[in-house]
Amino acid sequence: MLHSSLRPFLPAALLVNALLDTAYAQFSSQLPSTFPHNYTGIPAGDYSPEWQDYFRVTGDLANVTKGSTSTSYAGNIGINRAGHPNNTLWFWAFERASEGGNGSLSANAGERENEPWMVWLNGGPGASSSLGLLTENGPLQVTGDFNIVTNNFSWNHLADVFWVDQPVGTGFSTSDADGYVPNEDQLGQDFVGFLSNVVRVFPSLATRPFYLTGESYAGTYIPYITKAILNTENPPVNLKKIAIGDGTIGDFALYEELSTVNTLEAWPQIINFDPDVLQYFRVQEHLCGYDVNLTYPQQGIIPTLRDPFTTANIYGALAATSPFQKGGSRFGYSGSLAFANQLSTSTSQNRARSLDSPRQRGETYLFARLNERMAERGLSHRTLLRQRRLETREMKEVREEAARAWKRDLSGRPNGTLDPFYGCFLFEEMVDYALNFTFPWNQGDFDVYDIPDALDPEVPMDPSVFLNDNTTRRSLHAPDVEWEMFFPFPFGNSSEGNPFGDPSVAPMAFMSELASNASAKGVGIIIYEGNNDALVAHRQAEVVIQNITFGGTQGFTQKPSTPFHDDSGNFVGIIHQERNLTYAFFPDAGHFVPRSQPEAAFVFLREFILGNNRTGFVGSSGSVVGGQDPSLSADVYPGINSIFYGSGAQATTTGTLTFPSETWASWSSFLATATQALPVIGNNNDGSNGGGDGNDDNAGYVLKSSMGLSVVLAVSLGWLMVWVR
Ligand SMILES: *[C@@H]1O[C@H](CO)[C@@H](O)[C@H](O)[C@H]1NC(C)=O
Ligand SMILES: *[C@@H]1O[C@H](CO)[C@@H](O)[C@H](O)[C@H]1NC(C)=O
Ligand SMILES: *[C@@H]1O[C@H](CO)[C@@H](O)[C@H](O)[C@H]1NC(C)=O
Ligand SMILES: *[C@@H]1O[C@H](CO)[C@@H](O)[C@H](O)[C@H]1NC(C)=O
Ligand SMILES: *[C@@H]1O[C@H](CO)[C@@H](O)[C@H](O)[C@H]1NC(C)=O
Ligand SMILES: *[C@@H]1O[C@H](CO)[C@@H](O)[C@H](O)[C@H]1NC(C)=O
Ligand SMILES: *[C@@H]1O[C@H](CO)[C@@H](O)[C@H](O)[C@H]1NC(C)=O
Ligand SMILES: *[C@@H]1O[C@H](CO)[C@@H](O)[C@H](O)[C@H]1NC(C)=O
Ligand SMILES: *[C@@H]1O[C@H](CO)[C@@H](O)[C@H](O)[C@H]1NC(C)=O
Ligand SMILES: *[C@@H]1O[C@H](CO)[C@@H](O)[C@H](O)[C@H]1NC(C)=O
Ligand SMILES: *[C@@H]1O[C@H](CO)[C@@H](O)[C@H](O)[C@H]1NC(C)=O
Ligand SMILES: *[C@@H]1O[C@H](CO)[C@@H](O)[C@H](O)[C@H]1NC(C)=O
Repeated sequence: MLHSSLRPFLPAALLVNALLDTAYAQFSSQLPSTFPHNYTGIPAGDYSPEWQDYFRVTGDLANVTKGSTSTSYAGNIGINRAGHPNNTLWFWAFERASEGGNGSLSANAGERENEPWMVWLNGGPGASSSLGLLTENGPLQVTGDFNIVTNNFSWNHLADVFWVDQPVGTGFSTSDADGYVPNEDQLGQDFVGFLSNVVRVFPSLATRPFYLTGESYAGTYIPYITKAILNTENPPVNLKKIAIGDGTIGDFALYEELSTVNTLEAWPQIINFDPDVLQYFRVQEHLCGYDVNLTYPQQGIIPTLRDPFTTANIYGALAATSPFQKGGSRFGYSGSLAFANQLSTSTSQNRARSLDSPRQRGETYLFARLNERMAERGLSHRTLLRQRRLETREMKEVREEAARAWKRDLSGRPNGTLDPFYGCFLFEEMVDYALNFTFPWNQGDFDVYDIPDALDPEVPMDPSVFLNDNTTRRSLHAPDVEWEMFFPFPFGNSSEGNPFGDPSVAPMAFMSELASNASAKGVGIIIYEGNNDALVAHRQAEVVIQNITFGGTQGFTQKPSTPFHDDSGNFVGIIHQERNLTYAFFPDAGHFVPRSQPEAAFVFLREFILGNNRTGFVGSSGSVVGGQDPSLSADVYPGINSIFYGSGAQATTTGTLTFPSETWASWSSFLATATQALPVIGNNNDGSNGGGDGNDDNAGYVLKSSMGLSVVLAVSLGWLMVWVR
């Protein structure tokens, strides 16, 4: 049975394994030992303001006009871990660019006491924060043709900002072979050690208000770093707030799987507006217990979710036979998160750019794990891309065959029981469904970080040419290592833990304690999400918040529904603030919020991260500053009506898929009514006992039929292909 359910997938899986077997043979189990470069002029003694001259970036940077940014400093700073003198973190820090910010990093101790400074961290685990600097919120941005341009919405227009590669061994940060962090507590200690040296070099930072920000797997790092700072008796910095975007605060089931149905409800394009498919996913969700109900206020702790690794065969089977067990990390599609660096783009500016380049980096989600493992073995991007072309061809044939064999009417699906192939890997099932059956994703690419981006290949946003230029590298005081946008972090070869081999419990487990300690020390917590992110989708953040006790009460007492606007008065998102916890939602941003919505992110930074704007603040009487808009309080925020597809490399073949408003209207009326009519198929959580089927005689079915009809009509009228170029 396992074999038969695996059958359609096996050729591809075997192919992947065969390719990697070759690669595996060349792999050395030795982790690299790296150390900072000793550039001319390095001070001999301990960290002190004397080091500023050494770190100041004065040399040439490829494609950057001198003087086009504020003063910056870069290099490696130690983390003070006993026995590991070569363990350092690499930073690139830009002084605040606005008027009056000049000289802000070289200020003396006690000066500029009210001027903010911040750290930005990318995730991975093992992604370099230069990705954020050069493709999201930094003063220099890499373009699709590897040029470098300046960014009006860089976060250093509002604060001194450090982009820091961590944990040790990531990006330009160094580690000796035995020094990689085994867990998140060590990572937190390392970061506190780093900060204590940073303030020796830049003394004003010891007392100035400090903001710790980041995204994706930094949703795991930041709570651990915060915990370490709060537990340090005399912390080296004056922490004011933490901000986590599209972050992994919950465990794997929570951040990756739980949101699937919510995502489908908002993005029915993924299943071609097919109510049967949605009902199928709802049944699977229910059988997995992922249909968590949020209430405002929330009643009772939300129980730990079922771990999908205990529910399906395919991932376990692959893991057991795969040679890629290094680090013991449980092998799954989840490796995709390491591709938080997977560079896609959603700006029309970049979409239009031509880039017939050998460095196209539009690897599909399905190949993320392949690439990850190859990169782990130090194979070049070029090899990766060669393999990928081969893979894509083979994979497409497999998919076409599957699409022929599997009917859209779900007749080949389990009826009322958990699908034995996917189990509770619902997110992976959703992505596969789109790749198998739904135009335009069936053309090859599903960008899990940005749903409306179905370009294949995507426009690359790849800082590696710039950062591996020898002149640039020297000017940035970087070590003699090849900069990789991410490195699958080994976590001390742990065979336990999450799919990345990280043995530390997900921060959800201690968020209530953290929130209480943070509040006691005046530290605010900010969580934000983009609606176009399928991988770490907003529903998980809402579950996380409703499951945290802060200010003595569990969760928000009211559903976030207060709009906020940019400086031109455009609606950019929803903001909500209660008891020192802030949540922001960006309707048209992907996983990389500052990249998708640079101006909105900038206003958010100014008003709600650095500022104390009260919009969305719930007063003790329950009234909300800025009011509430009932139309914003639904669980589902419909996705945008434009799916971009075609080749990001050839602007002329790029198109936009849209659906008529009637299709959307039918979908929302279907959702409004069918939500209460979820066909329940027995309450048995393992799905072994079917008590009916997903399409029985209930309101959902009736609506589904009329919905189906209107969809058919609307679709036949309205496959509007709007060619944009
Ligand atoms: C760096 O080089 C200088 C000489 O240029 C030397 O005195 C110093 O010891 C070196 N430092 C390290 C850490 O190797
Ligand atoms: C920054 O300060 C330096 C020296 O203090 C000065 O030469 C330069 O003009 C200043 N730049 C700006 C943008 O204020
Ligand atoms: C950035 O700001 C400059 C000067 O204010 C302006 O000329 C330019 O158009 C802006 N660029 C973008 C992309 O907004
Ligand atoms: C630390 O780096 C130096 C080079 O600067 C190297 O000689 C030494 O072996 C490294 N130490 C460890 C423990 O890797
Ligand atoms: C959520 O509510 C629905 C509808 O009342 C119910 O079927 C489901 O079991 C609930 N989910 C959980 C996890 O309790
Ligand atoms: C809710 O929080 C508790 C800790 O208070 C944790 O044990 C549980 O796993 C969390 N629920 C989810 C769904 O993450
Ligand atoms: C997609 O196609 C593969 C290959 O045939 C098959 O194994 C898988 O079950 C399909 N998945 C979905 C969700 O349709
Ligand atoms: C500089 O930009 C050009 C495109 O204008 C690009 O081809 C080149 O690779 C870039 N060089 C570096 C070192 O970043
Ligand atoms: C860049 O530096 C490395 C050593 O750090 C050297 O091997 C390589 O040849 C240099 N490349 C160029 C183009 O100079
Ligand atoms: C929020 O934080 C402040 C300190 O900044 C603290 O005085 C206040 O009690 C906190 N509020 C709640 C509800 O925890
Ligand atoms: C708070 O932020 C909102 C952004 O939506 C802005 O419109 C408003 O002017 C800000 N309020 C203050 C007092 O700055
Ligand atoms: C599911 O099973 C029921 C009862 O066995 C049957 O009536 C129904 O047609 C099945 N549905 C599908 C989609 O196969």
